[in-house]
Amino acid sequence: MKLLAIGSGYVGLVSGTCFADLGNDVVCLDIDKKKVESLNNGIIPIYESGLKELVERNLKLGRLKFTTDAEKAIKEAEIIFICVGTPPKSNGEADMSYVYKAAESIGKYMNSYKIVITKSTVPVGTAEKIKRIIRAELKKRNKKIGFDVVSNPEFLREGAAVKDFQNPDRIIIGTSSEKAKEILTKLYKPISRATKPIMFTTEKNAELVKYASNAMLATRISFMNELSHLCEEIGADIKAVAKGMGLDTRIGSRFLQAGCGYGGSCFPKDVKAIAQILEQYGFTSNLLRTVDYINERQKRSLVPKLKRFLPKLEDKTIAILGLSFKPRTDDIREAPCITVIDQLLKEYAKIRAYDPEAMDNAKKFFRKGVFFAKTAYEALEGADALIILTEWDEFREPDFEKIKQLMKQHIIIDGRNIYDPSEMKKLGFKYFGVGR
Ligand SMILES: NC(=O)c1ccc[n+]([C@@H]2O[C@H](COP(=O)([O-])OP(=O)(O)OC[C@H]3O[C@@H](n4cnc5c(N)ncnc54)[C@H](O)[C@@H]3O)[C@@H](O)[C@H]2O)c1
Repeated sequence: MKLLAIGSGYVGLVSGTCFADLGNDVVCLDIDKKKVESLNNGIIPIYESGLKELVERNLKLGRLKFTTDAEKAIKEAEIIFICVGTPPKSNGEADMSYVYKAAESIGKYMNSYKIVITKSTVPVGTAEKIKRIIRAELKKRNKKIGFDVVSNPEFLREGAAVKDFQNPDRIIIGTSSEKAKEILTKLYKPISRATKPIMFTTEKNAELVKYASNAMLATRISFMNELSHLCEEIGADIKAVAKGMGLDTRIGSRFLQAGCGYGGSCFPKDVKAIAQILEQYGFTSNLLRTVDYINERQKRSLVPKLKRFLPKLEDKTIAILGLSFKPRTDDIREAPCITVIDQLLKEYAKIRAYDPEAMDNAKKFFRKGVFFAKTAYEALEGADALIILTEWDEFREPDFEKIKQLMKQHIIIDGRNIYDPSEMKKLGFKYFGVGR
């Protein structure tokens, strides 16, 4: 099938490439000329395991193309995925201008029946709004062309995006069109397994499933982060509590890790957006506003912990290991490092940071005040304290004797609970995790 992804970021690039790998002809469209140029040369702007190989293979086979030419791309496509960003406005509401702009272009250029699919995370009612925008554009052109708008939210996780796309837990398709259902069943056939079938539902249900899923996961994290403070007060270990809770099959063990707060381009934005939607309908979203508040408080909780050991941070050297919002991605959007580094810079601390993949993005973000080391050990040279913000595997089993030699003072604030407190004590570190 001839597919078009409008927006070639994490979602558009990964899903477009994976659809090409299934044998479809895919065009990824973007307004960012530099990005498109790089992609056409096989340079991938994001780090995602396995993606580079897939892009190279499908570019070579001619099944994958990158372009800025919206008119040609829209005319040639049978199925159009809208994969543009929906970033938060200052009040938390999703900024839908990119989605609406994409819908406008579709109405402006379409010349035959199209299935228009929203993969972007969008508020309930967006499918209806997109229909209206496309109809208005067609009316301006005096054209009567059929189209269907479908909500097909994307659930891929950064860091495992290719794998998630190829082996999804679920494929949710919101549409009332039998024609769209039939075509999309065929499109998804290679990856929809009998045990985990496609769920067909209404556009509105599909739109809400995505927000509700992210809000639920964020709630679990904030719940554990809330309890972590109690654990610290009473001398309990949040990891043991989480393990005990997770053995209950009704609860399960995933997303029960206390830490330094969730980040990324989805959870913070989607929690705020769904709270804002509830408020638009006249409900006060006490739960989700608190989930968000707890997360922000959690991000801010590490530096005060550090100050118990180092009351004055001015001119103290702080090593930071981990900048991405989670391992196996280079994405630093809303990552705890942004809050923590800002707090440290305000106290005039010197920062030495390292991340296996997110250095380029971090360098663009933190223009001043951060020394970017080439290795984790280099970041630790002369450090008064170490703060761990991302649980990359390479930080899990370091040479602690070497670390002790490199650091000036032996203080570790472990924002991801990757070390064992009693072992750290034995090794001679002043160690503080989260909720332990
Ligand atoms: N990142 C994730 O893990 C993830 C997972 C599931 C869903 N989502 C949702 O998917 C959407 C996209 O997220 P993302 O992380 O891929 O965003 P992104 O910012 O990485 O990519 C968006 C891309 O769209 C391009 N764009 C904007 N307007 C355009 C237009 N009119 N025409 C062509 N291109 C245009 C931008 O230049 C950018 O390259 C968001 O709604 C997000 O919430 C993201």
